[in-house]
Amino acid sequence: MQPARKLRAVKRPEGRAPGKLVAPLLTWFLAHARDLPWRRTLDPYAVWVSEIMLQQTQVKTVIPYYERWMKELPCVAALARASSEKIHKLWEGLGYYTRVRNMQKAAQFIAANHGGKFPMNFEDVLALPGIGRYTAGAVCSIAFNQPVPILDGNVIRVLARVFGLRENVREKETNARLWKLAEDLVTAAAPASLSPQRGEGLRVRGGAVERLSRLREFRLGSTPHPGPLPVEGRGRIVSQSPGRLPALVLSGPCSALNQSLMELGALVCTPRQARCDVCALAAQCVARRDELTEELPNLGPRAPATARRFLACVLERDGQFLVRQRPAGVVNAHLWEFPNVEVPLKAGEAQARSLLESELGSVLTDPVRLATVKHTITRYRITLEVFRGGNRGGSLPARSGQWISRIACDQLPFTSAHRRVLLTALAASQG
Ligand code: ADE
Repeated sequence: MQPARKLRAVKRPEGRAPGKLVAPLLTWFLAHARDLPWRRTLDPYAVWVSEIMLQQTQVKTVIPYYERWMKELPCVAALARASSEKIHKLWEGLGYYTRVRNMQKAAQFIAANHGGKFPMNFEDVLALPGIGRYTAGAVCSIAFNQPVPILDGNVIRVLARVFGLRENVREKETNARLWKLAEDLVTAAAPASLSPQRGEGLRVRGGAVERLSRLREFRLGSTPHPGPLPVEGRGRIVSQSPGRLPALVLSGPCSALNQSLMELGALVCTPRQARCDVCALAAQCVARRDELTEELPNLGPRAPATARRFLACVLERDGQFLVRQRPAGVVNAHLWEFPNVEVPLKAGEAQARSLLESELGSVLTDPVRLATVKHTITRYRITLEVFRGGNRGGSLPARSGQWISRIACDQLPFTSAHRRVLLTALAASQG
């Protein structure tokens, strides 16, 4: 990408009236929305769980986590009283574990201060631990049809392209402009006359949004689904292809509008490719008109990745591994790992091993290389070199870890990298 040169050469961006985008977005969304498990409910707790999981994580990864979570912890009260071990285990592999601890704090706050009922007021939602403007907007629009904006990576990309925003989207002023555009759009989707009342639904027809009186549910698609309709809460089933299970439950047009922006960014207006040929907003898009889809959004200069190197050791005794729990306040806090230490990138084998032995408080005997695990956390490219061996000196200092049986280890929440070490260690110890 060479934004600077090309961006200066183009004409000034031309704004698009947000109102004109609403009908094409809603029409497209109702026809193309993916069938996702959190789209079959309007329970604000479920919407919240999905939104927190979806931060930094892809939809296909989140689906099994979401389903397991909702089965084990189906409501605020269940989350509020769950053990720390349980919530970390359910989150194991999703990363950014502060998210799950904040969710539990929020659930405990709701239990203590809102009678266990997820709050509906935007400011009350925003005040919950771990909930920022994006998540509060997503929950309040999706579950309650409130005209509040959302702005995530997908929405930023769609808006920057459609409105032809050339500025660095990470800068404060541009970010504020994007929030304002998102707000204008969701507000335009919610004229008072279109907000659904009890027993009413919404339909998109000929590009216009209509209110349907006294409808309990309605369908787009010619053949009604024969079976029972899994509507929960106050939702309306609004999208159904013939023969398919009803898949989409919406609280109203604000929900649909916000989700349509995310969905368009995920399916059509993607980072690698703007599929303008199938885009509902192609006619209105400045980036398409000015051939700027590859340059926008302007993400500014990239922070360089930093390489880091760690050594870990697998010690086994009577069917037990030596493992330890990471302390509070560090990355991956409360998760489990094998004893390990960071070493200089260029350290030779002897220096690296002696650093590992200092960490362990013992001398490793007969170490063999078991695996090398490569992974990335934020901007760090991490190489974890894993050794297996015995220890000279018998008992180890408490700070090196605890002896825990192989079976019990499998039940503990490990960091993603150390779960891979555990799987390798289990395979090696059985072989
Ligand atoms: N990404 C963030 N929120 C989402 C949602 N509700 N559906 C699909 N992708 C999302």
